[in-house]
Amino acid sequence: MSTLGLQFRSREDVSPVDVEVPKPSSEPARAPKVRSVRPFVGGVGPDAPEGPQAVLIEDYPPYGVTRSHFHAVDQYHIFFGSEGSWYQRSPIPALGVHYADAYATYGPFGTDEVSLTFFALRATPSRMIAYMPESRDQLKYRGRRHAFLDVGEALVLASNDEESQWTDLIQEHDDGLHAEVARMAPGASIDLPPLPDPSPGRYIFIAAGDLVQGDMHHAEGCLAWDPGDVPAGPLYAGARGCNLLVLQMPQCTVPSEYQ
Ligand SMILES: [Fe+2]
Repeated sequence: MSTLGLQFRSREDVSPVDVEVPKPSSEPARAPKVRSVRPFVGGVGPDAPEGPQAVLIEDYPPYGVTRSHFHAVDQYHIFFGSEGSWYQRSPIPALGVHYADAYATYGPFGTDEVSLTFFALRATPSRMIAYMPESRDQLKYRGRRHAFLDVGEALVLASNDEESQWTDLIQEHDDGLHAEVARMAPGASIDLPPLPDPSPGRYIFIAAGDLVQGDMHHAEGCLAWDPGDVPAGPLYAGARGCNLLVLQMPQCTVPSEYQ
């Protein structure tokens, strides 16, 4: 059996873990102090190991609000929009990708009476969260890039007679930041492009359909971290086709004098 570099995990593979959520003193009392999350990659809390950290947040509460804030690490989110969920002034789409450089302020976001589910995806863990405007003193400099993208197209599977297609969500930057949707026709082989060198790696999320990896079938909702150091092995779209989000992390954007 060949070595498989990508380890896809489903929600069922990952037990929930309780973590304390740092919050500003001004946050409403209804916000939870402890949140149950599923660490798909890496760990959570003070003992989180160095290296990638992917967390699924499922118990974001009804009427929850996350105020504008920033972190000390570069980060993607994958949002699964629910009725009444919002990011700034817009509804969160059925599937949304958000990216923010470290020290780029983003949000606010929240939801109405239905809870909200999303992934937070990082190349390295950090427990720092700084709300604005009261934590302005922690904003050592301003991160440049942040974007919120509607990727509903990734929920629509390609038909048998369609060509497989890669579409840029975020065009490739010199530091390796690059986000794409791959829509693979049923049974098509999937050739992941090589990662830049150097690169921390990338996340691969199955947005729709099934992925066949050796003798394993991975369904939509599965996530893997690809550090790029081991060949992924042959990958194929399943009988329904397969849509992937391929979210490549940049080299750490924090200037060395601020690390
Ligand atoms: Fe955040």
